[in-house]
Order: sequence, then C-alpha cells, then structure tokens
Amino acid sequence: MKVNKVGVLGAGLMGSGIAEVCAKSGYETVVREVSGELLEKGIGRIAASLAKAVERGKLSGAASEAARALLKATTRVQDLAGCDLVIEAVVENLGAKKALFAELDAVCADSAIFCSNTSSLTITELAAATRRPDRFAGLHFFNPVPVMKLVEVVRTIATSDETIETLLDFARSLGKEPVLAKDNSGFIVNRLLVPYLLDAVRALEEGVGSREDIDRGMELGCGHPMGPLKLLDFVGLDTTYAIAEIMFAEYREKRFAPPPLLKRMVLAGRYGRKSGRGFYEYGS
Ligand code: 3HC
Repeated sequence: MKVNKVGVLGAGLMGSGIAEVCAKSGYETVVREVSGELLEKGIGRIAASLAKAVERGKLSGAASEAARALLKATTRVQDLAGCDLVIEAVVENLGAKKALFAELDAVCADSAIFCSNTSSLTITELAAATRRPDRFAGLHFFNPVPVMKLVEVVRTIATSDETIETLLDFARSLGKEPVLAKDNSGFIVNRLLVPYLLDAVRALEEGVGSREDIDRGMELGCGHPMGPLKLLDFVGLDTTYAIAEIMFAEYREKRFAPPPLLKRMVLAGRYGRKSGRGFYEYGS
C-alpha cells in the first residue's frame, strides 16, 4: 500500500519528532494536539529541531522550508480523515489511547493503517478499540526521533502481512532501520532497557556509586552515549515510571518494579530535563 498522507496524534516529545521526520521525508503530515497551547509548543519544538538540523548541516534551508510546508497542525481529530497512516503518540494511558482510536476509526477510511508509538502497552488491546485489527500495528520510535535510527515494527496475531510490509517500507522511507518485534509489553528495546535503568536507580539508592560515577562507568566502560541516570533524565522519570508500572503489571517480575526512589522523585516533580531537575539539575 502507498502512503501519501500521515496523521500524528500528539505533539509532545515523541509526536513532534515523528511529525518532523515524516514531513522531512516528503509526506503530507497532519499533527493533532488536544489544545492550541500544546499544539503551539509542539510546532515550536519541530521548528527548533529543523533549525538545529540546518545549523548542523544535516538539512538544507530549502528542505527545512519544504518540511514546514508539508506540516499541518490541528486540534480536530476529523482533520485526519484523509490520512493513509495514523501514528498515535499521546500520553501512555490505555483509556485515553483506546478512546482516541475508537474516535479515529469512525473518521478514517477503512483502508487506513493505525499505529501506536506506545512503549509498553499491548498493541492488541489498542487494536480491539477499532474495526481494523488487521491494519493495526506498533510503530515505536526512539528519543530523539530525528537522530535515533531505530523503529520497532510490532506485529500482533491479527496484523496482516500487507500492513507489516507497508510499515517496514514506510520506516525505511523515513531513513530509519526497522526491526520486527512481537506484541509483548516493552517489545525488544524497553524489555531490555527498562530493567537496566531501574537497576541503576537501585544502585544509586544502595550507594554503589555516586550519580556521576554510575553514569561515567557505563559511558566509559561500555561505550554508551549516556549513562543510565542521564538517560533517565532525558527520557523523563515520569515516563519511565509509567512504563515500568505497565510492564510490572504485565509480567509480575521484580526486575520491572519501579524502585521507591524513582517513585519519590516523580512525586516530588523531578521528572528530569523537562522539569529542570531529575538526577541532575538543568538550566532553563
Ligand atoms: N535533526 C537532525 N540531526 C540532529 C539533530 C536534529 N534536530 N540534532 C542533532 N542531530 C545530529 C547531530 O548533527 C549529530 O550528528 P553527527 O554525529 O553525524 O555529527 C548527532 O545528531 C548527535 O547530536 P549532538 O552532537 O548534538 O549530540 P550528542 O553527540 O551529545 O548526542 C544523543 C546526543 C543523540 C541524544 C546521544 O547522547 C544519545 O544517543 N543518547 C542516548 C539516547 C537514547 O538512548 N535514546 C533512546 C531512549 S529510550 C526510548 O526513546 C524509548 C522510549 O520508549 C522510552
């Protein structure tokens, strides 16, 4: 199936990155947020990232302008009616996602493919909110979306071969490398990454090392671009906490249980970079 027009639900950190990458790759892209204020913030994030890409010599000024021209911002779900592919990247909340997919199902053509960028919820459960389980899959991007090469294409027991082929081609057309994963909570990457990040918090809690030494250990000892505590601040402690809770509920395994320190930091509003403070402090 040929994808011409893409819809992106949510213009947060992930949604704005996904919309940017789609528009940069020549797709007409409609990005939807719940309020004008959040939409403006998301569009501002895209503009800043495009400007950074131009500054870094990754993109020409003309290509940046062309991407901007392909982007349409809206607060109305109905404006996604003509999309061939819709990627949902709203808050990691099952009820909110299901309600949105049910609404979208009535708006879009029967041929349209729906995807979720969820990191930990079960795709099958989201697909059940629609009448198109064969045209429903996971399409999981990584933060920062314009930079990270990977996309996980998640297949449920109901996803059709044609949908998977379309999504693999689509991911490649964005300049990404797709990997195929089964619909198990966390898929491939978060299943391995989340227990590691939670263990780093436990190591800090137990005084194994200082925050700097834990991070330096993994950066210099294992060649990771960021140590685990810096990465937690980058991804968001609130986001990681929500993902860990979902994975713990699914697997009932201790390695997915969020440690008390993580919970306390979230309760104290220390979400990481986005709130100015997490394991480290950030200037505005
Ligand atoms: N558009 C296009 N390219 C950009 C860009 C933009 N807006 N911003 C930066 N770049 C490019 C730069 O030009 C540079 O390219 P080069 O290596 O070819 O010169 C490259 O991206 C790196 O940029 P910077 O030099 O500004 O930054 P750093 O070298 O400090 O790297 C980082 C920043 C890419 C964030 C790196 O620290 C990193 O890879 N960190 C780990 C990120 C990670 O693990 N993400 C996954 C999180 S888990 C997740 O998302 C799953 C979810 O479900 C939780």
